[in-house]
Amino acid sequence: MTTQSVTITDINPSTTYTYNYTYLPPLAMVDVVPPAEGFSARPDWIAKVAAQALKILVNTIMIGIKSEGGIKPFADKLIAELAIAARQINAEAVLLEAIGQELLKHGFPNTLPKLKLFLEDVIKTVAETITEDALRDLVQIIVKLGTASGRPSSLEDYNELFQIIPLPPVSGNFRDDAVFAAMRVAGPNPVMIERMKALDVRLPITEEQYQSVMGTQDSLHAAIADGRLYLADYSVFDGVLNGSFPAAQKFSYAPLALFAIPPGGESLKPVAIQCTPQPGADNPIFIPQDGDNWLIAKTIVQIADANFHEAVSHLGRTHLFVEPFVLATHNQLSPTHPLFILLTPHFVGTLAINDAAQSNLIASGGFVDKLLSGSIDQSRVLAVKGAQSYLLNVNTSTLPQTLAQRGVDDSSSLPDYPYRDDALLLWNAIHQWIENYMSRYYTTDAAVQGDTQLQNWVAELVAHDGGRLNNIGAGNRISTRAQLVELVTMVCFTASAQHAAVNYPQGTLMTYAPAMPLGGYSPAPVTQEGSSVGDYLKLLPPLEGAELQMEILYLLGSVYFTRLGDYGDNYFTDPVIQNFLVQFQQELSKIEEEINHRNQTRTPYEFLLPSKIPQSINI
Ligand SMILES: [Fe+2]
Repeated sequence: MTTQSVTITDINPSTTYTYNYTYLPPLAMVDVVPPAEGFSARPDWIAKVAAQALKILVNTIMIGIKSEGGIKPFADKLIAELAIAARQINAEAVLLEAIGQELLKHGFPNTLPKLKLFLEDVIKTVAETITEDALRDLVQIIVKLGTASGRPSSLEDYNELFQIIPLPPVSGNFRDDAVFAAMRVAGPNPVMIERMKALDVRLPITEEQYQSVMGTQDSLHAAIADGRLYLADYSVFDGVLNGSFPAAQKFSYAPLALFAIPPGGESLKPVAIQCTPQPGADNPIFIPQDGDNWLIAKTIVQIADANFHEAVSHLGRTHLFVEPFVLATHNQLSPTHPLFILLTPHFVGTLAINDAAQSNLIASGGFVDKLLSGSIDQSRVLAVKGAQSYLLNVNTSTLPQTLAQRGVDDSSSLPDYPYRDDALLLWNAIHQWIENYMSRYYTTDAAVQGDTQLQNWVAELVAHDGGRLNNIGAGNRISTRAQLVELVTMVCFTASAQHAAVNYPQGTLMTYAPAMPLGGYSPAPVTQEGSSVGDYLKLLPPLEGAELQMEILYLLGSVYFTRLGDYGDNYFTDPVIQNFLVQFQQELSKIEEEINHRNQTRTPYEFLLPSKIPQSINI
């Protein structure tokens, strides 16, 4: 193989992307999204999002229509309301035309399942015509339309929110302890559990309590000695300001949740939950035998987990982590630089979706303010701190490093950890691809040091008037090929696999509010006694909140735009690189098979199937 020398240092970057540090201070974000990065530059992305948004609109209208009177009056009312909404985004004519075409093709849908299929086809046609502005208006129409309201009288009220949006299977089993444990290793936020090296004074569980769950043949000390005891620690929420927008007091919780693997076992079992980190008589330790209090305590963990998930694991450590890399890449690398060519497909849509997040989702009065437990300032601070936990510690925030730090990298101690096992397959495949790619351009470490554009790229990433990152390479310089490969692997992995792992569970596991409420609505119990089903229902979101949670998270969790490893035909012109790419794609196919195989004998975990991982953060 011949190796190309790096001949790009004399070509200047063509674009300037300006920083703004005031949107989510002090994080580096783009000041104004350049037209080439905007949603309008990608009509196929808009059509995909619009199709899901229209489905949500139909669902919202269906919740509000009483189905008495048979399918015909129901369908007539639904289409009439759909037409009113379509008129507001100048899509009424297209809608009526699409309905007419469907009627001609398939006739009138005389059952509810047929009506749903009929509407799915209509939606696809209308979605193709939606502009970026119309899409923004459509989302606002859905949010304002909200057709459910009030407190639930039973869980059935939440089930009825799912009309054309399918009721997720987790609605049927989320109260099982095994499902609660599986959330820690295969759920939306599978990054919390840490192996305990010693008992935690904040959680003074007795041997008797432990053995009442795990049996008298096991003990706390044996579990610690064997590495079978794990903690999910949400104390980051201790003392945070509670939100009350839009119309009810909300509560944040900082629980400590203890899990153990039985001797010789494979999977975590929930052992105990304490709802705040300070032990005391008014802060009981709940165990699975505690009836409704146990269900309430588990729900409190789910609420803390959902808040951590959205602010830290999803927004902070994927969306906001990648943003400064996008800016420095455009500012310092020429479009012909190999790193520019490699990275930019992994940045498609990221500036636009992050801009929409900061200006809309996490603005005062926005979705996060309405739904999350904390005040909006608190949620924003948490997202910034979450982003900084990685941005300021890049070298120690790679997947292998974070697994080791949490003591969960040893699969013999914790065999059942689908996220870890699948994520490592992807990390290794991406690492190999990046290593091969870089070997074509850098044959020595000196070549890395001598690439002025690359060095300027790193300098901008760590500059105070640049990306504000820290702990990159050695002394914030990339001096070796190994350091370069590690950093670029982290960026590509975060933009693809890691984002997929935390983004797509939103569309299923998180749409059903009782399984994972974004906000809590009553204080944690302070005694062992007295809780009832009614107390449990009081903890859950009001129906308007549950509806909005379903709508927004279904939208965010159901759009798949681009696919990992698919850079487009002939994107890389060098046949040697093309060959490396084929190897990478073959490796991804093998991983797909391996994950499908694993799913036959474990808690099925599909969020890291390569076919379901986009190249970039674009939703
Ligand atoms: Fe996302």
